[in-house]
Amino acid sequence: MAQAITDKDGVKRYLITLNVNGDAHTVLVKGNAILTNVLREQLDLTGTKKGCELGDCGSCTVLLDGKPVDSCLVLAIEADGREITTIEGVAENGRLDAIQESMINHAAVQCGYCTPGMVLSAKALLTRNPNPSEQEVREAISGNLCRCTGYVHIVEAVLATAQGRLTPDDH
Ligand code: FES
Ligand code: FES
Repeated sequence: MAQAITDKDGVKRYLITLNVNGDAHTVLVKGNAILTNVLREQLDLTGTKKGCELGDCGSCTVLLDGKPVDSCLVLAIEADGREITTIEGVAENGRLDAIQESMINHAAVQCGYCTPGMVLSAKALLTRNPNPSEQEVREAISGNLCRCTGYVHIVEAVLATAQGRLTPDDH
């Protein structure tokens, strides 16, 4: 439960705990602080990108209790005490996640702006459905807009990850 504090400037702020990538962070936020901004500006986790800030592009996608959400539509106080995964938490012990490797190997990254959100949406899909169809992959990333790649390589990279083929030649 967020603790309300009236700061020296007379503005009410809330002391909340964000569990991000396995670490608990106590932060003081305004009631209208957006999760994207708190992650980027207070926790320095700038892998979560800002695009439309309207819930349209998916570049700000994080996992909230394992489910992909547009963090620009989530108040930080709504995430109090919940589990958040950002792109910084996907690689483990310095090793890229299989989806990340596959995205690189399938040339599914151009400017890279959509990539963190794509990876998190794909990761959530493969966690709940390890053997998705192409249609299911397309649906899972339908909220993540890519202005560069045309999606073909991204979809192929996710399908290949599910099938254990991390490089295009790995059939
Ligand atoms: S920045 Fe959140 S959906 Fe576009
Ligand atoms: S790689 Fe540029 S927006 Fe997707």
